[in-house]
Amino acid sequence: MENQEPSKRPTVVIVSGPFQGHLSPMLDLGNVLYSKGFGVIFAHTVFNAPDPSKQPDLIFLPMQENLADHQILPGDIIALVNILNKNCEEPLKKGLSEIMNRLEPENQVVCIICDMFMYFSESVARDLKLQCMIFRTSSASSALAYHALSRLQTEGYIPRKDSALDDVVPGLPLLRFRDIPTADMGTLQDAIDLTDNICNTRTSSAIICNTVDYLEPDEIVQFQHIYPVHYFPIGPLHMIAPTSSSSLLEADTNCLIWLDKQAPRSVIYVSVGSLAILEKEELAEMAWGLASSNHPFLWVVRSDAVPESEWADLIPEGFMETVGERGCIVKWAPQKEVLGHNAVGGFWSHCGWNSTLESISAGVPMICWPCFSDQKVNSRYLSHVWKVGLELDHKLERGVIKESMQRLMAGKEGEEIRVRANDMQHKMKMSVSEGGLSYASLSDLVDFILSF
Ligand code: UDX
Repeated sequence: MENQEPSKRPTVVIVSGPFQGHLSPMLDLGNVLYSKGFGVIFAHTVFNAPDPSKQPDLIFLPMQENLADHQILPGDIIALVNILNKNCEEPLKKGLSEIMNRLEPENQVVCIICDMFMYFSESVARDLKLQCMIFRTSSASSALAYHALSRLQTEGYIPRKDSALDDVVPGLPLLRFRDIPTADMGTLQDAIDLTDNICNTRTSSAIICNTVDYLEPDEIVQFQHIYPVHYFPIGPLHMIAPTSSSSLLEADTNCLIWLDKQAPRSVIYVSVGSLAILEKEELAEMAWGLASSNHPFLWVVRSDAVPESEWADLIPEGFMETVGERGCIVKWAPQKEVLGHNAVGGFWSHCGWNSTLESISAGVPMICWPCFSDQKVNSRYLSHVWKVGLELDHKLERGVIKESMQRLMAGKEGEEIRVRANDMQHKMKMSVSEGGLSYASLSDLVDFILSF
């Protein structure tokens, strides 16, 4: 199947949400399936559209989502997801029907693989008589935490008083209440309603997950009990996909030149991903925390990090003069290359699932500062289960930042963390190599799609 002639490829449709953390693994999935002999149609919103010129093997299908008719506040992901699910169904059905009418029988579409956030795709699959599979961009552990929300509400455990947030969650012994994704993306009811949709398999025949069996074996077993459909943990996809850029923002590659001048494992890389919104005061505290440590740092400050603020005003006055050449600030970095650079010794991260997988597979120890949703679960696993990161208190304080950086970048504790991070990196490589579990799971997925 791998060497399939272009004219003989059965086609798979991938429907992605418009978030960087979803587009990247779904484009990787598209490129992996292409390399396995499938034709791939990549359906995406017009808003945050990927650049087709960077993905020459995929066929792009834009879905007009008409966001201009709606008022969505910055960071209101739930409102955005609800609108996409209302507005994208017709464009997908129409666009796909047209393409299907043009395809030769040997290239016919065999299934739709939809982002867990784009659940409207299932009814399109049903109408077009196609199989549907769900792609989960996050971990099995976080899926279990989301799944538990409704039960915890019914049993009266949540909402919860601040003083009881460190209690262990009944049924999820590795998590505290502060780690579960509750009302930080809207109200608790909003989070439960979203969960009802993203955790419902409806008529889908399988779930594909960008995770690795050895990272969360027990959670994967529990997940399969809850969702008795075929399950394919095939991650981390960025390690198996042919390299291509899926970045929505232009990465500033000058930081790689700066990294070349730094000593091995001396730099802390700082990024809170593509969506997190910060207070100006938090940025100032980050800045002075970084300044007071003695380590070189590469810091990503997105231009929309603080809504309604000019980028130039986000960096405190006198900061660059204080840190001089020791600091490099960019609006967007080539993150995977940065993490793979030998000057980088630590990653202060918001613990988005992609950043988590990228850091583990580069063997880079972390400082965990989750902002919302699954990031809190990931942070807990990184710091207390896999023990490759240090947890940073959510309320940023420059003295605590300095201390955490010293603990991670110098000293015995940091050294022990680094040994574990190297071990995990090795296991990640094994998983995606022949004989590894993700490798086997991907072969099973290919066979499963061919059985349609
Ligand atoms: C969101 C949610 O925050 C996250 O919890 C969920 O798991 C996926 O969707 P995001 O904030 O985008 O994710 O974080 P993450 O999942 O880590 O993805 C960010 C991606 O952007 C990574 O692939 C990272 O390599 C890339 N990135 C980030 C860059 O290329 N350059 C940067 O400067 C910052």
